[in-house]
Amino acid sequence: MNTVYLNGEYLPKDRATISVDDRGFLLSDGIYEVTPAYRGRLFRHDQHMRRLQKGLDELRIEYDPTDLPEMHTRLITANELNAVDVAIVYLQITRGVAPRTHHFPPKGTPPTVYAFAQAYVRPETDRWTLGYEAITVPDRRWGRVDIKAIGLLPNVLAQQAAVDAGVEDALLVKEGVALEGSHANVFAVLDGVVTTHPATEQILHGVSRQYVIELARDLGMVVEERPVRVEEIRGADEIFFTGTTTEIRPTVRLDDQPVGDGNVGPVARALYEAFLAGTSGP
Ligand code: PDD
Repeated sequence: MNTVYLNGEYLPKDRATISVDDRGFLLSDGIYEVTPAYRGRLFRHDQHMRRLQKGLDELRIEYDPTDLPEMHTRLITANELNAVDVAIVYLQITRGVAPRTHHFPPKGTPPTVYAFAQAYVRPETDRWTLGYEAITVPDRRWGRVDIKAIGLLPNVLAQQAAVDAGVEDALLVKEGVALEGSHANVFAVLDGVVTTHPATEQILHGVSRQYVIELARDLGMVVEERPVRVEEIRGADEIFFTGTTTEIRPTVRLDDQPVGDGNVGPVARALYEAFLAGTSGP
């Protein structure tokens, strides 16, 4: 039985219910986080919690996050996920339950806090080695996607466009710039330089993105954070996505054209190897 967390209680998922007046349900008025745990150990949890706090502050949702680290650990244990290679904890905080208005509810309305944990199944090495395909999709999101807000309709439609096209990833393009994926950041290897969009309001500041930048620098690679135009990325030697539920996923075909020589490249391989080593524990 899946144990979830709802407003201070741990309970079976089928007993966790929220009000139809929840502002998350009615207005997408809330934020979320997804934190990985490798063999039961939360990875870079402080960075996930900092991003969450920044989101809460930006949206002016009042919530005391003191108990969150313990809650994450407890959910992993309660769901017997300490021994799996990768688990994720999904956390969502909305502005709570109140009669529907566009403006904020009265001060003191408690936020709704919900979390669940589940295993993440890594692709087999043989599958990963073949690489993945992506299509470009117009980025139709709002102007503050650095806030991890729960209103993900444009991301949903972009990812469904990828599924409809029979590929794994959607690359979001705005004003000619390849920004990120529907649920992952994107990197391109351009003339040997590992390149990714700077951490502006136009992308989510991925914790995995930051980790991969650090790994690349540790491996002696040159990393540049700058906007990459879509025509530039089409000519990249390598493209790969990074994220908590993506880890590192190499793209070998973009819009039905080969990326580089059409195979997973040495940069993605080296980074994935370092990523797996760095998350596999002491
Ligand atoms: N998505 N960009 C977007 C739009 C994302 O939704 C995500 C994560 C990332 C990568 O961030 P991180 O490395 O911190 O996971 C980038 C989560 C996993 C999701 O929506 O399920």
